[in-house]
Amino acid sequence: MKATAKAHTNIALIKYWGKRDESLILPMNNSLSLTLDGFYTSTTVEFRNDLLEDVFYLDDKTVTGNEYYRVTSFLDLIRKQAGNDGLFAEIRSANQVPTAAGFASSASGFAALATAAVKALGLPYSNQELSVLTRQGSGSACRSIYGGFVEWQQGTKADGTDSYAVQVANANDWDIRVAAVVLSSDAKKVLSREGMKRTVETSPFYSGWLESVPSDLQAIKAGIKEKDFEQVGSISEANCLRMHATTLGANPPFMYWQSTTFLIMEAVRALRADGISAYFTIDAGPNVKVLYMPKDEEAVQHKLRSVPGVRNVIVSRPGSGISCM
Ligand code: ADP
Ligand code: DP6
Ligand code: CO
Repeated sequence: MKATAKAHTNIALIKYWGKRDESLILPMNNSLSLTLDGFYTSTTVEFRNDLLEDVFYLDDKTVTGNEYYRVTSFLDLIRKQAGNDGLFAEIRSANQVPTAAGFASSASGFAALATAAVKALGLPYSNQELSVLTRQGSGSACRSIYGGFVEWQQGTKADGTDSYAVQVANANDWDIRVAAVVLSSDAKKVLSREGMKRTVETSPFYSGWLESVPSDLQAIKAGIKEKDFEQVGSISEANCLRMHATTLGANPPFMYWQSTTFLIMEAVRALRADGISAYFTIDAGPNVKVLYMPKDEEAVQHKLRSVPGVRNVIVSRPGSGISCM
């Protein structure tokens, strides 16, 4: 009744932004991501008959409050599916990724938790079933089941059974790089969950965002198939800017970027003006991820590290899907 699992984070190139069902976590649009080998979560789940409630340690600290509630209510789903309602667990998780800072800790966190819990209870889930389950912990997490380029298909059913991720291209198919530019590891003020809800409910720009996604998706998938870096990069950057634009129209308005975020965007544009193909994308936080080709590693690193306010640059390659120990 004990298992350990590891899952990598993923960076969305076409963003998931907005839910049509908040309790089942069903998205308003399909999204597409790249799993990253540089950031991951390892989680051990042990179900024990002597426990009267779940106990959750994150990076060796006991977790209480909302973060604890999110984990136990997610385990409730699994307990229900296993027909084991009164069985509680000790959960020990370690994030090799800053928590709640826009590096997708919720993606690696819930993918590792779901995988370990399902294994610990001996449930014979396929990866597709695991993706459906994981989605209900954090939407972006359903994509971390797989490595490489992954699409989350929003599905049409009300019960969510057709809303899961599928692999578009394997991690080994294409060696591209993603530099995570760290300005701040502080937790964001507006969590992804709250930010997207406010945007759907109040931003007049939201409908424009939704209209723009299908053509982005089609074009980026063609770009991935043809290994056309310019196409994949430029669509990712434009899609990111459109997602963030919706937050400016929300009520009350909000913005995930800081002044250093702008400096990095400018540095990436300057690289392009110098003939180096690099593109940025940003999730719900101030930190920036820069996509580039291996041959430009040195030039990109040098440029990003020279930006005032940059604390670290962490390079990832395409990462693999979940693994169990
Ligand atoms: P991020 O950009 O890091 O994904 P989110 O706002 O989406 O930020 O989610 C952060 C939340 O994800 C945390 O507050 C916590 O509730 C949850 N989380 C992060 N890491 C883990 C983990 N290892 N196990 C379980 N839950 C986690
Ligand atoms: C901007 O998956 O963290 O990173 O489903 O509420 O847990 P919940 O939100 P989450 O949202 C991620 C938003 C994003 C874009 C993306 O990863 O696709
Ligand atoms: Co998240």
